[in-house]
Amino acid sequence: MSKAGWPGKPSKLSSSSLDDDLPEATRETLTSQPQKKLTPLMGIVGLAIVVAIGGTGWWMTRSRNPIASTPASNPVTNNSSGAPAGTVLNHYPYPEAPTAELEAITADGGLKLRKAAAQAYKEMAAAAQTEGISLMPLSAFRSISEQEQVFLSLKQQRIQTAEQRAAVSAPPGYSEHHTGYAIDIGDGNVPATNLSPDFEQTAAFKWLQANAPRYNFEMSFPKNNKQGVSYEPWHWRFVGDRQSLETFFKARGQQPESPGSTSPSVSPDSSSRDSSQPESAQPENTQPETP
Ligand code: DAL
Ligand code: ZN
Repeated sequence: MSKAGWPGKPSKLSSSSLDDDLPEATRETLTSQPQKKLTPLMGIVGLAIVVAIGGTGWWMTRSRNPIASTPASNPVTNNSSGAPAGTVLNHYPYPEAPTAELEAITADGGLKLRKAAAQAYKEMAAAAQTEGISLMPLSAFRSISEQEQVFLSLKQQRIQTAEQRAAVSAPPGYSEHHTGYAIDIGDGNVPATNLSPDFEQTAAFKWLQANAPRYNFEMSFPKNNKQGVSYEPWHWRFVGDRQSLETFFKARGQQPESPGSTSPSVSPDSSSRDSSQPESAQPENTQPETP
């Protein structure tokens, strides 16, 4: 089309090659007049047509291609560091489970989970017991004020920055323990490994790895987890009903990570911290863990 009205075009071009994509009326005008009568004014008009048609085509192409028209940003992140939207120090916000929905998982009633999770945990522990495995519940539901103590008192005691503390513990309001779906589990036969990466060496951990999915429990923070939280082989969460699934995955718009995932972390501080190494190897984390 741009060929037709352009002044100075070789007159030897056939009319069909000139006007294939022009309206018939325009073809008539351009091809019925001698080439020498093309004026600069006509060239300008032709250029205007070229620009108008070309611009329309470009706009339509962009409209059909959402990638081309979408700003170059990741909708699940909220800042240039790549931290997921809504997180604080790499931890997601969680509501506190209502007391009425909690059920004891220990004889003294000291540890509680949401009812569905409590039932599943008790079944799992009983099944493990039949195989000589002692699953020991260490911590389950925690209120936001309890988490405040866990997070802040130890942060002060250990003289840590908030970021250092958050690598191994969630800030108040951001712990999976608030939901009533998360539990820290130890091996009753090897209490020295409680809340330690060494727990992964125990029979209890190996049993959990093989069997926890049968009871809808999964490890929340496998090695090199995407969230950038330290490896916590003792921390498991229940994902066995709609509410628990929505609690953990709806807001963040992501799939569960398979335990042992090797996906690179998106944590801004993870580049300076190899969370696949035992935590005892890290200078800021030499004390026994508090979840
Ligand atoms: N211990 C993990 C980080 C939590 O409380 O969610
Ligand atoms: Zn925990």
